[in-house]
Amino acid sequence: MIKACIFDLDGVIVDTARYHFLAWKRLAAELGIPFTEADNERLKGVSRLRSMEILLELGHITMARDEQERLANKKNGWFVEYVERMTPAEIFPGVPALLQDLRRRGQLIGLASSSKNAPRVIELLGLAQAFDAIVDGTMIVHTKPDPEIFLLAARTLNVAPHQCVVFEDAEAGVESALAAGMACIGIGSKEQLPLADRVLPATGAFDPAMLATLDVRQPR
Ligand code: BG6
Ligand code: MG
Repeated sequence: MIKACIFDLDGVIVDTARYHFLAWKRLAAELGIPFTEADNERLKGVSRLRSMEILLELGHITMARDEQERLANKKNGWFVEYVERMTPAEIFPGVPALLQDLRRRGQLIGLASSSKNAPRVIELLGLAQAFDAIVDGTMIVHTKPDPEIFLLAARTLNVAPHQCVVFEDAEAGVESALAAGMACIGIGSKEQLPLADRVLPATGAFDPAMLATLDVRQPR
């Protein structure tokens, strides 16, 4: 039986995935690296520095670590500028109602985001009270697709991994959830997220009645 629903943030609760893309695209343009939305799929879900490495791989550029950190921080400055203008109106349609419905049904609700900005985004959206546990990029060593972040969220919620379902828009995030032994609902398209147990076009399209039909994985 599923006891906890764990949500990614960027691209699942709110369209901050778009802001990450715009900020990376701006940096890519400065570096003369062609960068498309398809390229951006590889950056979704992974840490800031891993994203920087992937961007440089795309441009066949090698660079010292401290310079990579400087540029990643520059990208973060732009991202934060976009984010600070956000309001609760930008939460994806149906998400607040879904979170309330899940809580009414007795589900525990977690947030597991690779982003170090996640607590600020959640505060700006007025969603802090909607989650029983929030795990962000400052609390983990290994970024998605490693299962660490979802396992930490399950531990914090005091539930076993096989009792959790994860909502994810990133390929790295789906891999992370499956490696943690959790069920996974992909948010996006089947082409982008072929490994997810189910794929929905939007988080708000999730019907909580579906919880009973999800295949619970074998305990690991
Ligand atoms: C993830 C995003 O949620 O957080 C990635 O999908 C992003 O695109 C990562 O790189 C790290 O975010 P931040 O805010 O710590 O740079
Ligand atoms: Mg995401």
